[in-house]
Amino acid sequence: MELDWKNLGFQYLPTHGHIQCDFADGKWGEPEFKTDPHLSLHVAANALHYGQAIFEGLKAFRTADGRVVIFRPDRNAERMRLSAGRLVMEAPSEALFLSACKRAVEKNLDFVPPYGTGASLYLRPLLIGTEATVGIKPSDTYSFIVLVTPVGPYYKSGFNPVEALVMRDYDRAAPRGTGRAKTAGNYAASLLPGLLGKKKGFPIILFADPKEGKYVDEFGTSNFIGITPGGEYKTPVSESILQSITNESLQVLAADMGLKVVCGPIALDALDQFSEVGACGTAAVITPIHAVHDGDRVTRFGAKDKAGETLTKLYKELQGIQYGEVPDRHGWLVRV
Ligand SMILES: Cc1ncc(COP(=O)(O)O)c(C=O)c1O
Repeated sequence: MELDWKNLGFQYLPTHGHIQCDFADGKWGEPEFKTDPHLSLHVAANALHYGQAIFEGLKAFRTADGRVVIFRPDRNAERMRLSAGRLVMEAPSEALFLSACKRAVEKNLDFVPPYGTGASLYLRPLLIGTEATVGIKPSDTYSFIVLVTPVGPYYKSGFNPVEALVMRDYDRAAPRGTGRAKTAGNYAASLLPGLLGKKKGFPIILFADPKEGKYVDEFGTSNFIGITPGGEYKTPVSESILQSITNESLQVLAADMGLKVVCGPIALDALDQFSEVGACGTAAVITPIHAVHDGDRVTRFGAKDKAGETLTKLYKELQGIQYGEVPDRHGWLVRV
């Protein structure tokens, strides 16, 4: 497949097909490879009306020595189980999740971008309730799908600092709501605040904790990490945050580098403790944040045009592992 690999955006491009596996009569059927990207879905399907819809996001990479690897799919399988539990859905086993991911990549090997282009193959596992329901209840039938699409870097400007806005008018999730689960509905709810942020000139927004509005929760689609001059890696803990697998991995690498990893509440009025702040997630790994605007208060971190030293090191280390340039010492890569 010849695509303009170096200039891919973060958008859907058609591939050869996806894997689909259906749950009915209390069991999962045989996974199938499908070339038609359209689903046949009942008009009364639960996912469409009552929102039994969850998903995952992870990447496959072509490494320096020519392997094709998926980054930590076992962690996404686990998170999909957690999300499914919250929405009372039937989750695929880890074995089914992993085999569907591997097969989706195998069937689209020529869409895995060449090493050195900075691009990757994005995997999107999706689980939806398919039963026709009018009375509100969990679906008895489900479709588990893994689709893939080649992507370039999330932000066109690359690993460059951006400014973030604290969203004071809307919450991403309720204190005991679905913030920890990767539900489609959470993203629908975040569209308006995201658009309002962009209208005000901010590519990224930061949500406060929904209970008191005093603490950092997370960015629109990524976790918050802060580095202190004393060598601490700090990240919030909250019931309403999606547990980022990138954050989990960076914490391990930060500890390897001798940083002290501190997971706990971070007050929005104490952001000046940080010399570096980043937003982390699968799509961009780390987006350096050089200023956070909260009403009239602006807190700045480091240089406007250059990411800080520690976040740059962490970014390079994680990307290095993903592209097979740095030894996979924690066993995070699953070969296809
Ligand atoms: C709300 C939210 N938080 C955090 C993340 C980062 O999670 P991960 O590192 O697993 O991609 C994402 C992206 O999936 C997200 O949508």
